Amino acid sequence: MAYSDPTLGELIELPVDAPIQLFDLTTQQALIRPALERRWCDILDHGRYIGGPEVEECERRLADFTGAADAVAVGSGTQALVMPLLAMGVGAGDAIFIPGFTYNATANAVLLSGAFPVLVDIDPRTFNMDPVDLARKVDAVKKAGDLTPRAIMPVDLYGLPADYPAIQAVADLHGLRVIADGAQAFGGKDNDRWVGNIAEITATSFYPTKTLGGYGDGGAILAREKAFADRLRSIRWHGTGDNRKESVRVGINGRCDSIQCAVVTEKLGLFEMERARRTTAARLYDVRLADLVEKQEALPGQENGYGLYTIRIPGRDRVRAKLSEAGVPTGIYYDMAIHEMPAFAHCATFGPLPACEAAAREALSLPMHPYLSEVQINRVCDALEAALKS
Ligand SMILES: Cc1ncc(COP(=O)(O)O)c(C=O)c1O
Repeated sequence: MAYSDPTLGELIELPVDAPIQLFDLTTQQALIRPALERRWCDILDHGRYIGGPEVEECERRLADFTGAADAVAVGSGTQALVMPLLAMGVGAGDAIFIPGFTYNATANAVLLSGAFPVLVDIDPRTFNMDPVDLARKVDAVKKAGDLTPRAIMPVDLYGLPADYPAIQAVADLHGLRVIADGAQAFGGKDNDRWVGNIAEITATSFYPTKTLGGYGDGGAILAREKAFADRLRSIRWHGTGDNRKESVRVGINGRCDSIQCAVVTEKLGLFEMERARRTTAARLYDVRLADLVEKQEALPGQENGYGLYTIRIPGRDRVRAKLSEAGVPTGIYYDMAIHEMPAFAHCATFGPLPACEAAAREALSLPMHPYLSEVQINRVCDALEAALKS
């Protein structure tokens, strides 16, 4: 299988055998730096560092790209999770269902809103929320009677959308809202819908190593309803009305600055090319690793945005050390399930989470970025094969 797709062309000449990196932001920067410098000079000239025209441009481009009705640029992926909860009036006594295997921000966002994160087990094949356990947990919460189920916050781990058709069915049955934590998954798809236009509300992150990253903190909320997006714009500016003075609801400083919006807009121009290259890299891994290890599996109709390429290995830490010796960097996302962290130990009250715990022991992410060469991918796979045999 050829690495370079003739439709993409060779945008940049890379040494095919350069040191392997888990992420590569340097190559991308070389492609966009002149355009970025022009955009930054514009901002220095107009001086609207907050709320400049770059914010609206970025929001419009994000909505156009994903097909969402509206996009609201915010200060981080975490803010993008907290703000919809505030907009829905979620608070003390409410239950929000989240997977027990995710980044701590998902649980923090729920607790910051005043609600309680009910932890749901994952499907070991996809690493995402298990809809069967979700249904069980909603029933358990209703039966216990102390909390009111309000919303489900699935996470699209490593770039793979959660099982939204099955999750939406549970939501519809119980009258729950769905807020997707798509922080890692800009570029994922479900039945030809981009992440951002699969669930009614999607949060994403522009943390620099994300598939669509800025050069600092940032994030966005993609919404199916314009009226909901407008409420978020108010919350983003301390809950103010149009005059931006008088608070008409409780809000926060949830703004994304003009510079980050300019970076994200510029990077959106490269996005489909980079996504195609990530997919090509993943296909090469798929072929080489087919009989060697288990990997994150997409469900029918899903496309992974490949923020990360993640495999599952019993005895992971030994294999990881061998890979490191061979010059292959890897990442562990995450080595603790949510309830294994002290701040969230009280959140596993509605039943066991065995698949979350197993994933925390076995998940290993291999180098994944758009500028990996076929030679580098083969080196990773050779090193993994040797590590597994030793
Ligand atoms: C699943 C998930 N949710 C939320 C976040 C929070 O995003 P941010 O770091 O931009 O606040 C992240 C960031 O890594 C994430 O991976």
